[in-house]
Amino acid sequence: MYKVHPVAPTRLPELLKKMPKAELHIHIEGSLEPELIFELSKKNNIAIPYKSVDELRAAYAFTNLQSFLDIYYAGASVLITEDDFYAMAYAYFLKAAKDHVVHAELFFDPQTHTVRGVPMAYVMGGLSRAAKDAEKNLGITSCLILCFLRHLSEEDAFKTLEEALPYREHFIGVGLDSSEVGHPPEKFAKVFAKCKTLGLKLVAHAGEEGPPAYIWSALDTLGVARIDHGVQSIKDPELLKRLAAERIPLTVCPLSNLKLKVFSSLAEHNIAKLLEQGLCVTINSDDPAYFGGYIYENFLQTFSALGLGAGEAYAFAHNSFEASFMSVAEKEKCFHALKVCFESFVENDA
Ligand code: HPA
Ligand code: ZN
Repeated sequence: MYKVHPVAPTRLPELLKKMPKAELHIHIEGSLEPELIFELSKKNNIAIPYKSVDELRAAYAFTNLQSFLDIYYAGASVLITEDDFYAMAYAYFLKAAKDHVVHAELFFDPQTHTVRGVPMAYVMGGLSRAAKDAEKNLGITSCLILCFLRHLSEEDAFKTLEEALPYREHFIGVGLDSSEVGHPPEKFAKVFAKCKTLGLKLVAHAGEEGPPAYIWSALDTLGVARIDHGVQSIKDPELLKRLAAERIPLTVCPLSNLKLKVFSSLAEHNIAKLLEQGLCVTINSDDPAYFGGYIYENFLQTFSALGLGAGEAYAFAHNSFEASFMSVAEKEKCFHALKVCFESFVENDA
C-alpha cells in the first residue's frame, strides 16, 4: 500500500485539483449550463418559461429530488440536433479537463429526448463524437452509460434498449435514474437481465432518497456492479458489511446531496464515515450545472466541511480508478500517475 505523506492545508486545494481522477457519476444533461440552455432555446425556437439566465439560475432552489428533476427535464428540452448533444458534452469535457479528470463515465437519458421526437441517432452521434474529440484533444478517455428512467415503465425501457442496440458500440452499460421512491430496482429486473446477456455493464441509482432495501435489490435482483449514491446504506450495518467486503463502489455526489436536502449541511455528510468503514467510495458531480460545482468543487467543499486531508484525497482518487470500467492495464497507468502526482507534493526539507 502506498504511504501518503501529509500535505500542508494551504496546498490541499492544489492537490485536490491536480490529482488525476475519474468521474463516474455525471448525467451529461445535468452539465447543461443556463447560458447554453438559452442559446439552444433561441437557436431551436423552443420556449422555456424563464426570461433570463439569471431568472433560470434563481429557480435552482430545490427541496428534494423531484423538484430538481422537473427543472432538469425542462432544461434538456432545448436539445434537438446532433450538434446540440455534441456541444453539451464537449463543454463538459473542457471543464473536466481543467479539474484533471482523466477518465469519465457519462450517464445519458435517451427517453428524455426520444419522447420529444429526437432520434436516438442524434443523441448517440453527438455524445460519441464529443467523447472521441475529448480523447484526441484533451486526453480524456470516456464511455457512455445509458440510463433508463425509473418513473417510466419497464416496457418503455425495453423499447429504448431496442432503439439503442444499433448503436451498441457507443455505450458500455446501462443504469437507472430519475424519481427513486416508489420505483424500486426490481421494477426493472427483466430488462436488466436482458442487458446482462448482451454483455452490458450494470449500475443503478439506489439509496439516494430511497431505503437500504433498494440497494439490496439493485445488488441482488439487478446484479449491478456499482451503486450510484448509496448514502442511505449507513442505516443498515449488514449492508455496510457487504459493500465493504465485496468492495462494491458507491458513486457519491456531495453537492447534489446538499442541494437536494439529503443532508442539511456538508458537515453532516456521511462520506468520510463510509470511507472509514472500508467502502469503495468515490466523489462525483452528478448534475454540476444545477448543483453549484464540478468535480473539483465537490472535492474542495467536502474536504473543507469534513476536515479531510491528503490520505483521503488519495483514497478517493484511487477508488475512482478501481471502481471504473477501465481495463486492468488502464487502471494500472492511472494508479501510477496518481502516485507520481502525490510524490510531487512531498515537501523536500533539504
Ligand atoms: N438522481 C436520480 N436521477 C437523476 C439524478 C439524480 O441525482 N440526476 C439526474 N437524474
Ligand atoms: Zn445521479
